[in-house]
Amino acid sequence: MRSSAVLLLAASGTPALAAYNLVKDFSGTGFFNGWDFFNGFDNTTNGHVNYLDQANATADHLAFVNGNGQAIIKLDNTSFVPFNQKRNSVKIITHDFFPIGSVFLFDATHVPFGCSVWPSFWTMGQNWPQGGEIDVFEAVNHMTFDQMTLHAIGGCTQAPSAMQLGKTAGSDCSAGANSSQGCTVQETQPNSFGDGFNSNGGGVWGAKFDTDGIFIWFWNRSNIPADVASGGNSVDPTTWQTPSAAWPSSTCDISQFFAPQQLVIDITLCGDFAGQPTIYQQTCGGPLGNSTVDICYIDNVINNGTAEYANAFFEINYVKVFSNTTPLEATTASGSVVLAPDTASASATGTAPAQSGSAGAGGNTGGSNGAQTAVRAGLAVWAATLGAGFAWAML
Ligand SMILES: *[C@@H]1O[C@H](CO)[C@@H](O)[C@H](O)[C@H]1NC(C)=O
Ligand SMILES: *[C@@H]1O[C@H](CO)[C@@H](O)[C@H](O)[C@H]1NC(C)=O
Ligand SMILES: *[C@@H]1O[C@H](CO)[C@@H](O)[C@H](O)[C@H]1NC(C)=O
Ligand SMILES: *[C@@H]1O[C@H](CO)[C@@H](O)[C@H](O)[C@H]1NC(C)=O
Repeated sequence: MRSSAVLLLAASGTPALAAYNLVKDFSGTGFFNGWDFFNGFDNTTNGHVNYLDQANATADHLAFVNGNGQAIIKLDNTSFVPFNQKRNSVKIITHDFFPIGSVFLFDATHVPFGCSVWPSFWTMGQNWPQGGEIDVFEAVNHMTFDQMTLHAIGGCTQAPSAMQLGKTAGSDCSAGANSSQGCTVQETQPNSFGDGFNSNGGGVWGAKFDTDGIFIWFWNRSNIPADVASGGNSVDPTTWQTPSAAWPSSTCDISQFFAPQQLVIDITLCGDFAGQPTIYQQTCGGPLGNSTVDICYIDNVINNGTAEYANAFFEINYVKVFSNTTPLEATTASGSVVLAPDTASASATGTAPAQSGSAGAGGNTGGSNGAQTAVRAGLAVWAATLGAGFAWAML
């Protein structure tokens, strides 16, 4: 329990700066420089995918930059997958950790969707849940909206007075064993996921991670703020409109609950969220599966894969990070992993040497459990939402 003295200090501490400077620009032919490819099964959300290392993901054309300079991250939709085996996919994690006082932008013209498909753009701190987790973009199957979620240790909640456009579906961000749902906000603006997003030319998410709170914006192409649209070297979120999701520090001391964050982009299949029988039925139709009959897997993942996988890809214009501090990297000092300034990362625009394909030190540490709990978040949210009448149009 925090004392009120701590709260007072936090409230009167260093104010968040208005403008943030570009420190990382993942775009164009150098997009994949600075990301580590997680290699191995999705061992965290029970998803039916096998994440490829960079060499194999590149050789199989699951991660590349297209002729328009956009990064493509996709699911393998051409291999034959025998029953009981998994489909190849991609999960990338930034080598760098970005401290409190950072703004993340994610601009996509296409996001993966379709039955069994579960994409996400999210961030995680070390030693989950101590380091916290921010889910900026996450949705499954034929949902029609994005949902945004925080996960932290107990004590972080969303203030009821938070000014936001979205709809709160859970206000306790706690990721503890008995309360793992996190605090989720559902987007209420149109076309934030699926075919609606893709046919609308996509859009941009902005996430501000600072001492005054965590705030997520979503803009379609007609609505992007001038400083974001201009592609300049700084952004000033005080000039942006009301965010889609807001977790002000009044009820979640960001410095206490969030450590420097790595960015993650991944696509998994089925598992604890997309494949959860009730959620799957509500968002893909068909009969209700159960713990022994995984309809999501059988109907989509195996054999040649569902034709819907033609849509299971990200098409990304850029990921950018703005900050007033130097990005950090995990290094080993005296036998323990510590975060230190990433001196090779001094240039935002890609002069840093390309990272090797293997996961960097500490690169995968918190992600596993984090994602697992994120899943339970989704479940709890859906349990609450479905009853409220999610309108599912049968395919
Ligand atoms: C774009 O976003 C604005 C603001 O939310 C909204 O009013 C408008 O309907 C959106 N347009 C489309 C085509 O989604
Ligand atoms: C998978 O696709 C191949 C090539 O189109 C086809 O010959 C085969 O019959 C398909 N298998 C199944 C189980 O659908
Ligand atoms: C696989 O997906 C791509 C888009 O990424 C699509 O163009 C292609 O037709 C799909 N192939 C099959 C066999 O579904
Ligand atoms: C998942 O696999 C990675 C890589 O092998 C490993 O570091 C991590 O501890 C595993 N996580 C879980 C929850 O088993």
